[in-house]
Amino acid sequence: MSSQKPIGLFDSGIGGTSIWKEIHKLLPNENTIYLADSKHAPYGQKSKQEIIALSQKNTEYLLQQGCKIIVVACNTATTNAIKELRAQYSVPFIGIEPAIKPAAFHSKTQKIGILATKGTLNSDLFHEAVQLYKNTEIIEQIGYELVDLIEAGQIQSPKMTQLLQEYLEPMIQKNIDYLVLGCSHYPYLIEQIRQILPPQVHIIDSGEAVAKQTQRVLEKNNLLNLTPAHQHFFYSNGNPEILQKIIGNTYQAEYLDF
Ligand code: DGL
Repeated sequence: MSSQKPIGLFDSGIGGTSIWKEIHKLLPNENTIYLADSKHAPYGQKSKQEIIALSQKNTEYLLQQGCKIIVVACNTATTNAIKELRAQYSVPFIGIEPAIKPAAFHSKTQKIGILATKGTLNSDLFHEAVQLYKNTEIIEQIGYELVDLIEAGQIQSPKMTQLLQEYLEPMIQKNIDYLVLGCSHYPYLIEQIRQILPPQVHIIDSGEAVAKQTQRVLEKNNLLNLTPAHQHFFYSNGNPEILQKIIGNTYQAEYLDF
């Protein structure tokens, strides 16, 4: 049965597990395969062509495993490569983009901050999205080195605190009331970010919206798995211990050279 086939997810590393968690919460019957392409992280500093090639490689591995749908659990890969992936492969793709829409809609100061990678902020897809919110001032900041530190297992480190302070301070000065996390790695930094931002600033990411969109697309294609399933594979082509730490002990993270 096609519906029992797994959902495939990939990211440049461990960050997309923040999306996996939302999908698993909403769709507990689904089997999943998660690929952390940590060997090539970060994607954020790579060219569009490189990001497309890596996204194709990840997609092809997931398709070989029989995945019924692919979740590109990475803003950088979505904003640079999802059009090409959709044109090339026939399975449905779900992407993740910075949640500017709800932030701009709810902002009272009409100033929102966005923290994302260089690849996302420089992409055409992101520029097109920003054009829709001309009444809102969008303060963009590239999160240089944040993904590298997360991939190195240094979420709680003085360097991380220092970088976050440096990146968020100008947004606070500009009186933002929403901060959009435009990278699937960044939800793992919410604790530290919360300590830096004034309490009235809301933090939003796209995890829940991606899970709901995945549900809608599976439903529409008659691909929802109605029989409880519990197969979840987590593969890293970098250090699986870092992936293991972030997913906890319920599932096993394995090394795989994909
Ligand atoms: N998780 C990726 C994203 O959402 C990180 C990109 C990177 O590897 O630089 O953009």
